[in-house]
Amino acid sequence: MKFIINGGKKIGGEIRVSGAKNLALKAIAASLLSKQEMILNNVPDIEDIKQIIEILKDLGAEIVKNNNSQYKISTKNINKTELNISLAHKLRASIVLVGPMLARFGEVRLPYPGGCVIGRRPIDIFIDGFKALGVEVEESKSGYYFKTQKLKGVKFIFPIVSVTATETLMMAATLAKGKTILINTACEPEILALADYLNSCGAKISGAGTHTIIIEGVNKLSATIFDIIPDRIEAGTFAVLAAATKSDLIIKNCNPANLEVPLLMLKKAGVNFLTGNDNIHMLPSKKIKAINIVTHEYPGLVTDLQAPFTVLLTQAQGMSLVHETIYEGRLFYIDKLNKMGANIILCDPHRIIINGPTKLFGHKIESPDIRAGIALVIASLIAEEKTEIDNIYQVDRGYERIEERLRGIGADIKRID
Ligand code: EPZ
Repeated sequence: MKFIINGGKKIGGEIRVSGAKNLALKAIAASLLSKQEMILNNVPDIEDIKQIIEILKDLGAEIVKNNNSQYKISTKNINKTELNISLAHKLRASIVLVGPMLARFGEVRLPYPGGCVIGRRPIDIFIDGFKALGVEVEESKSGYYFKTQKLKGVKFIFPIVSVTATETLMMAATLAKGKTILINTACEPEILALADYLNSCGAKISGAGTHTIIIEGVNKLSATIFDIIPDRIEAGTFAVLAAATKSDLIIKNCNPANLEVPLLMLKKAGVNFLTGNDNIHMLPSKKIKAINIVTHEYPGLVTDLQAPFTVLLTQAQGMSLVHETIYEGRLFYIDKLNKMGANIILCDPHRIIINGPTKLFGHKIESPDIRAGIALVIASLIAEEKTEIDNIYQVDRGYERIEERLRGIGADIKRID
């Protein structure tokens, strides 16, 4: 499937942010920790969620989708401990299922996880963490086999900060025997929200959202109803889109407090906006200034907004440096922006220099991953003439009905087979 986008149209009005993909995936995985029914509201209707739901259904979970965004999940009749190869391979986040599966069933087989091609993405920290919790790990050609008699509380120090490894070990430890202390944990808002969700089911987690998380193991978790927080990456993406298209746009249902550094960088680039408790009003930008950005763990500038920022900086006056510190394969989409008329130099796998401003022109391009994909959509909205973006499955993995929502704010975008 492709997007056909005619750029240069006036963008404006209001756009609503969906639930956070990177919390919903983990909250769905966490429903494996209890035999009771979990109700999740505000789950985004995106491809990655469909994948994890399919994996759970394949294991024997009963899942009902009540309206566009509510899921009722019951895992009481799960009868398998082997994750489906082709489904798990499509989704890197399938590794987060290992924590809850081990806590509940004591064993799980995981095929090699797939996901975005944005760097090496090893899983050594997960493996070391599981071993510390008392898990035996076997690796074969087809993937991993994890087994434990009973997870045991432990002090585990993360060598580097990892979002999903923090979440996976935190989930596993909720049902472990005794106390687990996780040190050097990631502190993304989705981790705090995941801990809130688990605590509302009876878990005893403190310190989530900081670099030390303490979990007192409990025997079981009970039913709960939980609302997924708004997606800060989607909100930040819309803010950059408004800045790049010089639009007056109100971004509704978001939490600006979770976007402090991205908003600061927009301000440094000369973009004006007003923030409310749950909205950001982007004001039409005039002249965009060159800035240097460095991606960093939360609360720093999130790597998932690096590609949209790069597109914005093609419109900035002067030379900008973008330093991607998290992944070594997340800058190669710049070839596509250069095809469209940008002037970006790849200095090394982690650094690019953008010379701006340059006019962008429509081209036939392909979406390499979720975030580069949406960045190319933004580039197409500011480009002259028609752009064709192929492989938009990547965009659908992270953004709900995006063409419909962008049409709602004035974009000329359509989806074709
Ligand atoms: C999460 O990925 C997000 N994914 C990513 O979003 C996001 O880009 C990333 O965090 C950083 O914010 C989900 O939440 C599903 P990490 P994750 O482990 O947890 C290295 C998107 O577009 N590392 O924090 O996989 C790793 O290679 C996605 O929505 C190891 O070396 O990222 C990276 O350099 C893409 N060994 C660094 O840690 C390990 O065992 C941080 O990655 C694990 C990670």
